Amino acid sequence: MSKAIGFEERVVVVTGAGGGLGRSYALEFARRGARVVVNDLGGSIHGEGKSRGAADDVVTEIHSLGGEAVTNYDSVEDGDRIIRTAIDNFGRIDVVVNNAGILRDATFLKMTDVDWDLVYRVHALGAYKVTKAAWPHMLKQEYGRIVNTASAAGIYGNFGQANYAFAKLGIHGLTQTLSLEGARKGIKVSTIAPVAGSRLLESILAKDVVDALKPECVTPLVMKLCSERMEETGGLYEIGAGWMAKLRWERSKGVFFDPISEISAEMIDDAWAEVCDFTDADNPTGIQDTFEAVFGNLGIEMPQ
Ligand SMILES: NC(=O)c1ccc[n+]([C@@H]2O[C@H](COP(=O)([O-])OP(=O)(O)OC[C@H]3O[C@@H](n4cnc5c(N)ncnc54)[C@H](O)[C@@H]3O)[C@@H](O)[C@H]2O)c1
Repeated sequence: MSKAIGFEERVVVVTGAGGGLGRSYALEFARRGARVVVNDLGGSIHGEGKSRGAADDVVTEIHSLGGEAVTNYDSVEDGDRIIRTAIDNFGRIDVVVNNAGILRDATFLKMTDVDWDLVYRVHALGAYKVTKAAWPHMLKQEYGRIVNTASAAGIYGNFGQANYAFAKLGIHGLTQTLSLEGARKGIKVSTIAPVAGSRLLESILAKDVVDALKPECVTPLVMKLCSERMEETGGLYEIGAGWMAKLRWERSKGVFFDPISEISAEMIDDAWAEVCDFTDADNPTGIQDTFEAVFGNLGIEMPQ
C-alpha cells in the first residue's frame, strides 16, 4: 500500500458540491485534511432556481466530522466569486474540481436555444470562469491541481444530448491545453468521465441501479488526481462502480499522397479502406504529431 494521500495545508474548491459526486469529493477532501469551499447554486437538475440548503448541509456535515469548510452559493458562471471565497477564508487556492452540472436533454430537432445555452453556461463557461480565476494564483505559487468533469456522452456522443456532449468534450480540450500551459509551473490538469448514481442519473436509470452506482467509487480517483504526487497531466479517465481506465487517441497510419500533384476526391475514395485501416496505428500525444505527418509528407523540416 502506498503512502497515505493527504491535503493538509491545501485549499480546495469543489463546484456543485451540494449533492452527488461533488458532495462525496468535498467530504473526502475534508477528511484528508483540506480546507474546502463547498460551492453549490442549489438549483434544479435542469438549471432552474437556487437555494442554500444543499451546500449548507455538506458544510455542516464536514464540521460535525471535525473538518474545515465554508459555503459558496454562486453559480459557476461567477467563478471569480467562488475563488475569492477560498482566498478570503483560507488565503490560497490549490485544487479546483469543476464538477457542477445540469442536464437539458432533447433531440437536436427539439433542442431550444435555452437548452443549448444553459448547458453551455454551467459546464463549459462555468469550468472556464472558475479555472480562469484560480489560474494566476496557481501560476504564482507554482502549484495547482485541476480536475474537469466530462462524460461518456461527450467522448462518444449520446442520443438527445448534443448540448451536453458539446460542452463535455470541450472541457477536455480545456484540460489538454491547460496541461501544456501549466506544465512548467507545477500545475496538473486532468479530466474524468464518471458514472455514478446521482439525481442526474435518476431520470434515466432504475432506482436500484442508481443506488448501486456509488459516488464514493469515483472519489478516490479524484483524490489521486489532485494529490501532490500526481505524476501525469492532461489525461482523460473513465470511472464508475470500481472500474477505471485511461483513454488516449489512436490514429491510423493513413495514406500519403504526393502533395505536389493534384489529389482528387476519387483518389481518396479509392484509398478509403487504407485511410481507415488501424493496422500499425499510433497514439499521437500532441499537435507535433500532426505537424510531423504533414510536414514530413512535404519533405521539409518541421518548424520549431
Ligand atoms: N452521475 C453520472 O453518472 C455522471 C455521468 C457523467 C458526467 N457526470 C458529471 O458529473 C458532475 C456531477 O454530477 P452529479 O451526477 O453528481 O449530479 P448532481 O445533480 O447530483 O450534482 C450536480 C450539482 O451541481 C450543482 N449545480 C448546478 N448548476 C450549478 C451552477 N451553475 N453553479 C454551481 N452549482 C451548480 C447542482 O445544484 C448539484 O448539486 C456533472 O458535471 C455531471 O455532468 C455525471
